[in-house]
Amino acid sequence: MDDGDLETVPLDTTLVELVTFHGRDFQRYALENGIYYGPVDEHEADRHRFMHEVFNRMFDNRLIFPPLPAPRRILDCGFGSASWAIDVAEQFPTCEVTGIDIYPNMAPEDLPPNLDLQVDDLNSPFTFGSNHFDLVHSRLMAGGINADRWGTYMADILRVLRPGGWCQMVEIYYNAQSDNGTLTDNHALRVWSRTYLQSLQPYKNPRAAMQLQNLMTQAGFVEVEGRLLTLPLNPRDREMGAANRENVHRLLSSLAIYPFTEGLGMTPTDVQLLAAQARMEADNPSFKAYFPVYVCIGRKPGGSNHSKGSHQYHHKSGRTSDSRKRARH
Ligand SMILES: C[S@@+](CC[C@H](N)C(=O)[O-])C[C@H]1O[C@@H](n2cnc3c(N)ncnc32)[C@H](O)[C@@H]1O
Repeated sequence: MDDGDLETVPLDTTLVELVTFHGRDFQRYALENGIYYGPVDEHEADRHRFMHEVFNRMFDNRLIFPPLPAPRRILDCGFGSASWAIDVAEQFPTCEVTGIDIYPNMAPEDLPPNLDLQVDDLNSPFTFGSNHFDLVHSRLMAGGINADRWGTYMADILRVLRPGGWCQMVEIYYNAQSDNGTLTDNHALRVWSRTYLQSLQPYKNPRAAMQLQNLMTQAGFVEVEGRLLTLPLNPRDREMGAANRENVHRLLSSLAIYPFTEGLGMTPTDVQLLAAQARMEADNPSFKAYFPVYVCIGRKPGGSNHSKGSHQYHHKSGRTSDSRKRARH
């Protein structure tokens, strides 16, 4: 994460070494250093692209929610398949977009000229200069940011933003819910959820999604605004489209396979059986199951870009996160 002249340093080959568990490829470095437990193969890169499509639908194709009509410098924390970073670089061709990820190879080789992808661990203090970016974006990073890093992660983001710049975060709380009372704690979706939350602790904070507003406020952000949306698990949900079918079906095994087996000692067969049963419940429209999705924006004090405007996106099921409906913790 170097703020100096754009000097390209050859990539350390240990960072692209893979290790296979139960038919999926993982980054050896991320596993060995307790950084991230998700697969990094092409199958997972595809799922990230599907997930990006689903978010585009959820957010009415808005990539940036705060009022920032002409951003000049953007940082994307944990670019993954680089879908968001590429779209944002193409939408704002004069903006310098920088992406950081611990694993570089889920992104395509062909990138827009204004997108620079770098490899680093976001659990280490940022080395970017202060007051630099107009926007810092962080989406689906709870599986990778250490539980005790969230406070300093927010502080680092605040520091590298220019006064008046914005932070935008999106996290899914992987705890399946249903508002009609049909999903009980014995259902596979609930067992999967409990097991997933347990498998990440104590090193990661799988409940970070619900804490974004507090974390941002505590770090010193102002105009902090949170929304609670829902990711429907029924793959036939027309609003979310066909991409959600692939996304939901795949995530139930891809997020679970390493932490459930290597972390909790389940057999791969048991994990696949649980995932298959959870998929059947997700497919069953009567459960109306969903994962809560938390969105939060906040502004660094000062600067000229003062705006009392609210999120520049909306969604039918959108609501402020202090509204009546609450996720089960
Ligand atoms: C679930 S994916 C999300 C990708 C992207 N933000 C998106 O919304 O599509 C998490 C990504 O963060 C990366 N990652 C996880 N922990 C990290 C860390 N501590 N430092 C850098 N990258 C990390 C992983 O390699 C993976 O590409």
